[in-house]
Amino acid sequence: MNDIAMFNDLSSVAKYLATRRSGKPRDMVAPGPDMATLDQILQIAMRTPDHGKLFPWRFVHLHDRIAFAQLMAKAFTAANPDARPSQVEAAVAPAHMAPTLIALMFAPQPSAKIPLWEQQMSVGAVGMNLLHSAHAHGFVASWITGWACYDANVRAALCQDEESIVGFFFIGSPAQPLEERPRPEPSTIIRSWP
Ligand SMILES: Cc1cc2nc3c(=O)[nH]c(=O)nc-3n(C[C@H](O)[C@H](O)[C@H](O)COP(=O)(O)O)c2cc1C
Repeated sequence: MNDIAMFNDLSSVAKYLATRRSGKPRDMVAPGPDMATLDQILQIAMRTPDHGKLFPWRFVHLHDRIAFAQLMAKAFTAANPDARPSQVEAAVAPAHMAPTLIALMFAPQPSAKIPLWEQQMSVGAVGMNLLHSAHAHGFVASWITGWACYDANVRAALCQDEESIVGFFFIGSPAQPLEERPRPEPSTIIRSWP
């Protein structure tokens, strides 16, 4: 799979899956999904395995990018009081990338039966499904954590109750051609038993 003629080839489901490639947030430009399309993308992302039907995931649409950039700047400055303006600017830059930005939240649900680990795997599956769903609608997407995911002030502003941030999902159209990244040698990953 080193010579891929076309990434995110939507001519068949199998071809799409074999050529799936994330975009780079800094290279994402308009168009992004309109509100109706974004709603569809998120609904499809929710169609994810979930033991116990606990739905331990939430989406936050970060539609006000200026407000999000202000939040990031405040949080980064609080965590790095000696940061130079150029460092703050670089740290906040993702707030302005891509036409659409979604935060995926892990929202653990109390359950006597379903371990936390299984709920975490379910939200990971939502993240992957969100990439697929955005790509299936003709966009590119990217799953990024970065410092903001783990920052106490960003979390306090975006999370409710016991939520944590699983990642920021950037969605848009690629301004640059996508390039392949290293993929594992299958024989090092797949084995038979016994
Ligand atoms: C949970 C998670 C967090 C990630 N966080 C980052 C990140 O902060 N910065 C980064 O450059 N890539 C990050 N990545 C990798 C990006 O998603 C990157 O686009 C990925 O390597 C593209 O691979 P793909 O084409 O197979 O989707 C993360 C991936 C995952 C699964």
